[in-house]
Order: sequence, then C-alpha cells, then structure tokens
Amino acid sequence: MSNSIKLAILGLGTVGTGVINLINDNLDELKRRSGRDIIITEVGTRRQRDDIDPNIIQNSDLMATAASDNVDIVIEVIGGTTLAKDVIMHAIKNGKHVVTANKALLAEHGNEIFAFAEQHNVHVAYEAAVAGGIPIIKVMREALAANKIDWLAGIINGTGNFIMTEMRDKGRPFADVLAEAQELGYAEADPTFDVEGIDAAHKLALLASIAFGIPLQFDKVYCEGITGITLQDVNYAEELGYRIKHLGFAVRREGDGASAAGIELRVHPTLIPQDALLANVNGVKNAVLVNSHPLGQTLYCGDGAGAGATASAVMADVMDLVRVLGSKDSNDQSTNGHHVPHLAFIPEQLSDTPILRAEQMTTGYYLRVHAHDNPGVLADITRILSDAGINIDAILQKPAHKVGEVPVIILTLPVIESQMNLAIEKIEKLNTITDKVVRIRLDELA
Ligand code: HSE
Repeated sequence: MSNSIKLAILGLGTVGTGVINLINDNLDELKRRSGRDIIITEVGTRRQRDDIDPNIIQNSDLMATAASDNVDIVIEVIGGTTLAKDVIMHAIKNGKHVVTANKALLAEHGNEIFAFAEQHNVHVAYEAAVAGGIPIIKVMREALAANKIDWLAGIINGTGNFIMTEMRDKGRPFADVLAEAQELGYAEADPTFDVEGIDAAHKLALLASIAFGIPLQFDKVYCEGITGITLQDVNYAEELGYRIKHLGFAVRREGDGASAAGIELRVHPTLIPQDALLANVNGVKNAVLVNSHPLGQTLYCGDGAGAGATASAVMADVMDLVRVLGSKDSNDQSTNGHHVPHLAFIPEQLSDTPILRAEQMTTGYYLRVHAHDNPGVLADITRILSDAGINIDAILQKPAHKVGEVPVIILTLPVIESQMNLAIEKIEKLNTITDKVVRIRLDELA
C-alpha cells in the first residue's frame, strides 16, 4: 500500500463539494493527525465540472469508480436509495470501506448493507447520516458503550428547527423560511422529508438501533411533521411556559399493569419546558439528549445540516478508516482499533424487543378545544378526562364573553395514547364543541 489514502467521492452536491473544500482547507491538519496523505483520486459525477482539480478523475460511471483500484475509501453522498445502494454494495463487494451520509438508505436497507459489509470485512461508516456535524454516532457507539440507555430525545432535523425558530422569533411565513433553508443547503432534495418528519424518522431509527441494540426498523417509527403547527399554538404554549420543538424520541418502556413493555420510536412536535436546554437550541442547530445509566443526562449540540457540518462528520469517518487501512491486517477487525460493530452491539446479540404501536405510547398532551361559551362546558370536558384517568396539569381560557367562543387549552400529565384517543372522541361528541380537538404531545424531559 502506498503512503497515500485514496478517496473517491460519489456525488458532487452540497456535501460532496463540502468534502472537497474541507480537504483543501485542512490538508495539513489531516496529514499531521493521520500520518498519511489523503488525496481525492476520483469523483463520480454525471456532469463534468470545470472547477475540480484536473488531477482528479471525473467519472460518470459511478459503479466503476466504486470498484476502482485507484480508490481505498468510497464516500457516497449521492443520496436516495436506488443508485446509492447499488454503488455501496458494489464498493463493499470490491473490498472498499464506505463512508456515507445517507440516512434514508441506512434506515431502510441498513440491516442488509451492514451484514454484507461484515461478510466482506469492510466498514460502512455513517457519522454524517445523523445530526450533521455532531459526533453523536461515535458518542453512542463508543463513549457511552458502558451505559444502559433508557431514552433519548433529539432535534434531529436542521431544516425543521430553522423553520420553527424563524416562525416563532420573526413571525416569518413557513414557505419563505423553507425556501431559505433550501438555498442554504440544509433541506433534502425533497423537502417534504424535512417538514413531514421523515428525515428525522430515518435518523431516529439509526439512533435507536445503536442505543438499544435492535435491528433497524424505520417502518415502525411513528411520524408527525411540523406543517400543522400554527402560530396560535406556539403562542399558547409559550404563555404556559413551554416551547414547541420538533423532536425524535426513542424510549425504553419496562411496562407495568397498564402499559406494555417495549420501545417507543416517535417523531412529532412536542411541548417542552422553556427552560430545558433543548428548548433553546435554535436555527439549524441539532441537539440530542441521552439519558443513560449510570451516566445520567448528557446533551450533544451543534450544526445539524449544511456543507461544512456534514463534511466534518464525513471526514471524521475517513480519519477512522485511515487507521483501519494502516493496521497490519485490515481484514482482522480485532487488531485495527476500529472494531465497533456497525450498530454498536454484536450482530448476533441484537434484541427482538417489540416496537410499541402509537396507541401504546405514553406522553403528556396539550389540547386545544373549541367550545361555545355555555355554563358547564369546562365541567363536561374535565369530567371526560377524569373518567379516563387523565390528570390535568394546567388549564388556560381567555375571557370568552365578547366572542362567544374561545379555545380552552389543557395540559395533561402522561397518559397512554389509546386512553387519550377515547377521551378526545367523547369530547368531540359534546354538542358544545365546535371543532376538532387539536392535540400536541408534551414531555417534561425529566
Ligand atoms: N435535511 C437535513 C436536515 C440535512 O435539515 O437536517 C442533514 O441531515
């Protein structure tokens, strides 16, 4: 092996270009840290670019680049789940280590890809797939390896957090802020992935697997986006001391007489206390709060999207792999210092703990109920909640005598979702109720 590490970058969008810039900017640092020259030998791109170093081969045949003898590590930043999967499988088959930022691909096909990589004694590194530049995969796979993780909660989509922050702080319209997030290179190629929570659900599936040692199960993540959040609810939440954030939760439930044992995987807007650190993570920043035993709560925060942040995570993986390639026998994963299993747990030890269905999950709630200003309305609503065993934590109602109808805002303590569904059904049947009940989940993060 020559002293140089040869990289191929497949895809020259925001992230691919960011990786090239990072390598150009920090070449000396990379060499001083790794003891090797790190050079890009090939890029896989459908469109020839004249702003690329002429020493770098530009190849429109991405499969050829993925298998090229001129390449040690393949960086996949094409995105999507079709061509990206083909090139990664081809690279693995040809003995290449892979670095990818592709959360959609890993969330949907990671079980197959990681097994294939293990079979071929190569690594598929994916720090850049979750929370941009925050080294959360390394933290959870390595730094927290001695802990039992009870739950984690995270702001794991930069675009969504940027939109929610700008709407709340500046009253800007949703569409304007989304267009800006696209210009800044934060949003997915299809931004509905960001605003409907799908991107966050991809990342949550990965985080949950390495937290609990379960196979990837993206199809079981309950997912709600931010498109239904109104400024009215944002303001009522603030008035009650809460802030609405779009969060992903992975929670281990031990179960008791009333609730089932299993794992909750859910992405949804959530009221959290205004003074919680997560409530103050704004703009494109992501943050992941991990509650583990015996460590307790730790919070990891940083830019969750954008060229620089993502390139930083891609190259951190490359630096790890440089050490793997530098070991005496890169096929012997026990000697190379980079032998953490892909999902942190030994594949044979992955557990079949069930993922709970939405109606089995437990959260607090914010309810906005529209009712006529008649005597006894509030009593009817609170009776239905108390009959369902739902504990009310706060109620807010503005004077209604001028308009005849006004929302009643109710905050509840945690309740099993099926109980809340039944209670809401009954409330909506009251003839004093004028509209559907708006519900947003609430979590004290304690
Ligand atoms: N679209 C993603 C986000 C990019 O906004 O978080 C980083 O994964």
